Amino acid sequence: MVVLGTRPEAIKLAPVVRAMDASPLCEPFVVSSGQHREMLTPMLAALGVQAHADLAVMRDRQRLSGLTGRLVTALDAAIRDERPDVVVVQGDTTTAMCGALAASYEQIPVAHVEAGLRTGNLYNPFPEELNRRLIGRIARWHFAPTERAAAHLRAEGIPEPQIVTTGNTVIDNLHWMLRQGRGEPAFRTTGKRILVTLHRRENQGGGMRGLAGAVRRLADRGDCEVLLPLHKSPAVRESLLPDLAGHPGVTICEPLGYPDFTATLAACDLVLTDSGGVQEEAPSLGKPVLVLRATTERPEAIDAGVARLVGTDPDEVFATASRLLDDEAERDRMARAVNPFGDGRAADRIISAMVGDCLRPDAVYSAALD
Ligand code: UD1
Ligand code: UDP
Repeated sequence: MVVLGTRPEAIKLAPVVRAMDASPLCEPFVVSSGQHREMLTPMLAALGVQAHADLAVMRDRQRLSGLTGRLVTALDAAIRDERPDVVVVQGDTTTAMCGALAASYEQIPVAHVEAGLRTGNLYNPFPEELNRRLIGRIARWHFAPTERAAAHLRAEGIPEPQIVTTGNTVIDNLHWMLRQGRGEPAFRTTGKRILVTLHRRENQGGGMRGLAGAVRRLADRGDCEVLLPLHKSPAVRESLLPDLAGHPGVTICEPLGYPDFTATLAACDLVLTDSGGVQEEAPSLGKPVLVLRATTERPEAIDAGVARLVGTDPDEVFATASRLLDDEAERDRMARAVNPFGDGRAADRIISAMVGDCLRPDAVYSAALD
């Protein structure tokens, strides 16, 4: 059973579902929790993934506790109906944490895709650091995207055979999508192009309003186009729209489908983002990234020189982005296509490790702490 509920889970689990479909030894049963609604259904269709069940848990302005209660209850029912051999969850969302918890209540082994990312700060990103750590206590298989993530898991006492370094499935999907050549860039102009995405809970409110001010000052320069595909969250919209709506240098649109988003990313000159997935995709396409967050659990892109953790101070964000727009040589130094997050074959490694273990005659499914 593959459990997903938000846009990034669909993107990062689609290659796993496709690899299961291709294997004679697996039969995927995809459960959409429906934590996201408008941002999920078209995404699954674009990725060629069919959800076998939709739990439709989303509420407008959902709070974490209410969402958690609805998810555990609904996922428990789905797991008891279907009795899968393995439950696969991805990343750090509330859907993933509740999928792992509901599976372990039924003593069904959990596979965690994108395991081991850490900032060391329980409140940043919030609640994602907490969710990812909790899943780490439950999972039978820990599929770490990078060696650094695997090292975090070892340091926490997860037994070595349960950790497999695979690369990140987001890169599998990016390659798959770009090969199809389906998307169109969403920019209107051909000058300097800046792609901005913002949505994190810890940035919403004052922090995000400050970032909107920095983005507005960039657009005020008059020599660039800022494209802002808006997350569906009302809290995000309330933080960003007052400063940015109607500005002639800012193009605001609804969330882009994955084909158009990847084409847009491939066409931009600079990325400003607090997204996890975008931090992983941009380096593959050689796009400089300014990470608008206090911490990142993906330091590999920074080490590779293609991303900078600039924080959320509006003056600092404006100054760094402005300098990069003015200094083509500095931008070019950052704009190197590197793949610190994987080679595009993560899903195959995940399936072969999981199926291999399940077929062992002495297979014993126990969580790390049993
Ligand atoms: C969630 C994840 C976050 C991930 C992000 C991806 C958690 C705790 N957070 O954050 O890790 O980075 O998704 O985008 O799991 N909404 C809609 N339609 C949609 C989606 C959202 O209207 O299709 C609105 C709803 O009012 C909803 C709100 O956005 O209540 C927030 O959605 P939620 O999933 O709770 O949190 P995210 O901030 O999206
Ligand atoms: N994305 C998309 N359309 C958009 C914005 C983002 O398809 O308008 C994709 C992007 O390619 C990335 C993923 O959504 O793979 C990131 O999702 P998000 O930023 O919502 O969540 P996070 O990665 O931070 O958990």
